Amino acid sequence: MFEFMKISPDQSIVILTGAGISKESGLSTFRGHGGLWQGVRVEQVATPEAFAANPELVHDFYNARKKALLGTEIKPNDAHVALQKLEQEWPGEFTLVTQNVDNLHEAAGSKKLIHMHGELLKGRCVVCGERAVWHDDMDLTSECPNCCAVGAMRVDVVWFGEMPMHMEEIYRKLKRCDLFISIGTSGNVYPAAGFVQVASENALTQTVELNLEPSLNARQFTTGYYGPATQVVPKFVEKILSGK
Ligand code: APR
Repeated sequence: MFEFMKISPDQSIVILTGAGISKESGLSTFRGHGGLWQGVRVEQVATPEAFAANPELVHDFYNARKKALLGTEIKPNDAHVALQKLEQEWPGEFTLVTQNVDNLHEAAGSKKLIHMHGELLKGRCVVCGERAVWHDDMDLTSECPNCCAVGAMRVDVVWFGEMPMHMEEIYRKLKRCDLFISIGTSGNVYPAAGFVQVASENALTQTVELNLEPSLNARQFTTGYYGPATQVVPKFVEKILSGK
């Protein structure tokens, strides 16, 4: 592992976030102790086949996660706020890609944001593809926003076996970034877990992991800083902005 070397203000930054950045806001991660996948079989709630076989169970799973997210005590934390500050103050190109389907980056004011796994608070009609913000429970009586069908709504989240969103734009940005930062993700799920390799194709690009502990692909990063995101992320953002 090498020390992080400061980057100049005309250089471009791509950031990837995972469930770990939202943990201290009170949202569960997926793996590890108390994770969402503990006690739930992914195949039963997060695949197109599961939705076809048992739409009510899938609706219930996402309705429960939506209710938790919309709870008054769930707020962006210092890590989300630090990334919004970096976006605001960084003069070079800045892209924030998140695997998370929560809205905490938006709530912190992030704008240059790409949700590659979709958004929990949106719905999509499987007949006409129309998307809409959807905070209420969704079920088999939910109507398409275009009124094209009833019971054809699904949560606008990418399921296992489906293609993540905006991949062309993400790869384009990764290939030309000067600094790639991965925050709060275990490196279990591709294509996101492969982003560090794509960024590293340019030998001059620095890749940094900020996580509670080294992820599965930690050794592929130039360097890593470990600890809770609310401590490690603001500190690293200050390091970038101060040019130290
Ligand atoms: N601060 C920083 N990192 C943390 C914190 C914290 N407070 N708490 C946990 N982490 C780290 C864990 O160490 C782990 O490496 O966050 C990571 C969370 O990993 P996962 O639960 O696997 O979540 P993620 O990597 O985002 O999962 C990727 O898998 O199930 C799919 O679509 C789902 O987007 C998700 C994808």
